[in-house]
This record gives sequence, structure tokens and C-alpha cells, in this order.
Amino acid sequence: MEGCVVHLHSVHFRGVLSAQPIIVNFHQLFQTRDAPAILPTIKNEDVLRAVVALLDTSLPDIGPRDMHETVHYPGIYTVILSRDHADVLEDYRGRASQKRTSFTPVPCKTTVKANCTSNMLAELWSWEQFCEGLQEFVDEAKDRKERRAVQREDGKIPPSAVGVESLIVAAACYELKILSTGDMVLQLSLLAVRKRYRHLGIGSYIMELLKTQSVVGKYDTLVAHADTDAIGFFKGHGLTDDLLLNDQFKKSQALFAYQQQVTCVTRLLEEVKILHKQLDLQREEVDRLNSKLELEKQKRHDIEKRFLMYRLKNTQELLDSISSDSDDQEQTEQEHSKPGTQDQEKAQSAEPSIQTPEGAGV
Ligand SMILES: CC(C)(COP(=O)(O)OP(=O)(O)OC[C@H]1O[C@@H](n2cnc3c(N)ncnc32)[C@H](O)[C@@H]1OP(=O)(O)O)[C@@H](O)C(=O)NCCC(=O)NCCS
Repeated sequence: MEGCVVHLHSVHFRGVLSAQPIIVNFHQLFQTRDAPAILPTIKNEDVLRAVVALLDTSLPDIGPRDMHETVHYPGIYTVILSRDHADVLEDYRGRASQKRTSFTPVPCKTTVKANCTSNMLAELWSWEQFCEGLQEFVDEAKDRKERRAVQREDGKIPPSAVGVESLIVAAACYELKILSTGDMVLQLSLLAVRKRYRHLGIGSYIMELLKTQSVVGKYDTLVAHADTDAIGFFKGHGLTDDLLLNDQFKKSQALFAYQQQVTCVTRLLEEVKILHKQLDLQREEVDRLNSKLELEKQKRHDIEKRFLMYRLKNTQELLDSISSDSDDQEQTEQEHSKPGTQDQEKAQSAEPSIQTPEGAGV
């Protein structure tokens, strides 16, 4: 497939909605100076953020960083299904309650091919750059959601309250790999449809698109990394159980060897899933023990406080009794010293008083 952004004809899904498929090679796109816009008026970086957010919400076991690495990996193509801004706005304004009709996919024809020649001078896109604008992107999306909620009642939702996160309804990542034998494999690594748009034939459409070799390129077999919950879906699209391989895949020894690797990856993903669950349980246990420890610490603190108060009270009582003893002693001493004073007073009163010539006694 030529070009890093390829727009295809819009597709109608059971009369409920229509969306335009766009195939993007993000790695190539971000290496290109003056890269074409994937969606009009929306920054390519925000389209990537919205795609990663959609995949991350639908497949939470993988994690946003690995999701970003996959989407941005060299050689990975991402199929995006995007709704028209005006349609989504109408939907939000409460107009789009359409009757489901049978699903007839429109044949895919490439309409726009942007020729993206890689420019080594262009800055490489990284996870750090992805994160840099992420908070702003999330805040803006939240703000749009709040504005829609406030204005929903009177139906006056402004166009600016509909962002890229509302436009993208599905995304899938695939890669064409050449085996040592020369066999070509199309490996579908991620596929997700926004929850509210599931069971409308969108996932099936993407599967059909991936089988259209005039669009995605030539290959001998199709391999999918499947979430266990979606095995039924892949089976329904002609992939075999467990490894999700088609018949042709089984015929080649090299492909069979490749199949074993894929099994490992699939099983590894399962292991990671189990480990994540165990980790969550352990975290809960640690949290529980930590709060118990806090409680015990608090109890100990209370006991120590009460003990200190008790000791303080005792010391206070002791001090009080010591001070009252010393008061008693002082009083006794005073009483002992009193008789001497009385004798002195008596002796003084017995002495004759000397009269001054003026008659004043001295
Ligand atoms: C799996 C998924 C992509 C299917 O997308 P979709 O647009 O709902 O699929 P379709 O509407 O084309 O479904 C066609 C049929 O496939 C079957 N199907 C759909 N999802 C299924 C699932 N999760 N498990 C089993 N069968 C499923 C149903 O029979 C469905 O027919 P119905 O709508 O009449 O019930 C979507 O459910 C999804 O995003 N799931 C979460 C992410 C995921 O598991 N991705 C796959 C692994 S990477």
C-alpha cells in the first residue's frame, strides 16, 4: 500500500451510521514534514491519542504505553473508521434514531493517496511527546463532554462540543510480514469498536477490508492476536480456533512455525492477563494490611497517650502531696517559733516607757 494516509469511501452500517475508513501509517506520518491531515481541522497527534484511547478502553489488559508503541511501530498500519462531524453533532442533538437495515458494505476504493516520503530531518515521534499533550487532550475532551451534557436538554449543542474522540468509532492495527520462505502474513494485532457502535457490522467490515488484498496488499494468510472474549467473532470470520489461522496457513511448514510463535504470544498475553489479576489481588491485600497497620498504630498511639496522661496525673498528685506536706511543715515550724516572740513581746511591755519632754513616748 502506498502513502501513509489513505482515505477510502464512506461505508453505511445497517442504516444507523456511516463512517469513512482511513488507513494510516503513524510511524511514517510523524516522520514526514508537512504531513497530510488525517481528519480536517484535527491535529494528527490528537487523532493518534484518540485511537490509543479507544484501543486502550476496549483492550485494557495491554496498557496505554504498549498500545501506543504498537500503533506507532514501523510497518504497522492502522485502520480508522471516522464519522462525519456533522452527523455526530446531529446524533448528539437527538436526531439520529435510524432504523436498522441490512448490512451492505460499499466496495472499497482508494480515493486519496498522500505520498509521504520519509524526511530524516523531521523529528521522530515518541511516547514522551505523546504524553506531553495528553493531559490537555483529556481535559479538552472532558470539557466537550460537560458542555454536551449541559446543552443536551435544549438541543443547542455547539459544533465545538464534538471532538475527535466522538468521531472515531473503530480502529485496527495490522502489519504485513514476510517469512523466511517468502510467504506473506497479514498480522492483525489490535481491533476495537467503540462500545456503543458494536453489533452493527463494523468489526466484520474491518475483517472484510483486511481480506481485500487490493487495498491492504498481497499476503498468503491472515493471523490475528485474539482476546479470548472475541474468539467467537474471529471464528465467525473464517479463522481457525486457538491460533486463529486460516486453512492456507496450516499447509506451509514455515507458516506452521510462525503459527507456533503466535501461539506463544497469544498464551503469553493470557499469562500477562492472569498476572495482572494476581497483582491487583495482591495490591488489594497490601492496601488492606496497610489500613490494618494504620489502625493498630492509631490504637497504640491512643494507649501511649492514655498511659502518659495517667503518669502525668500521678506525678501531679505526688507533687501536690509534696507541696502540701511542706506547707504543713512550714506551719509547724512557724508555730514552734511563736512562743519566743510572745516572751519577747511580754518583756518589751514590762520595760518603762521613756517620756520625752514633749510628752511623747519613745
Ligand atoms: C470484537 C469486536 C471488534 C466486534 O466488533 P463488532 O462491530 O461488534 O462486530 P460485528 O457487529 O461485525 O459482529 C458480527 C458478529 O460477530 C459476533 N461477535 C461480535 N462480537 C463478538 C464477541 N466479542 N464474541 C463473540 N462473537 C462476537 C456476533 O455474532 C456478531 O453478530 P451480532 O451482532 O448479530 O450478534 C468488538 O466487540 C470489540 O471491540 N471488542 C473489544 C475488543 C476486542 O475484543 N477486540 C478483539 C481482539 S484484538
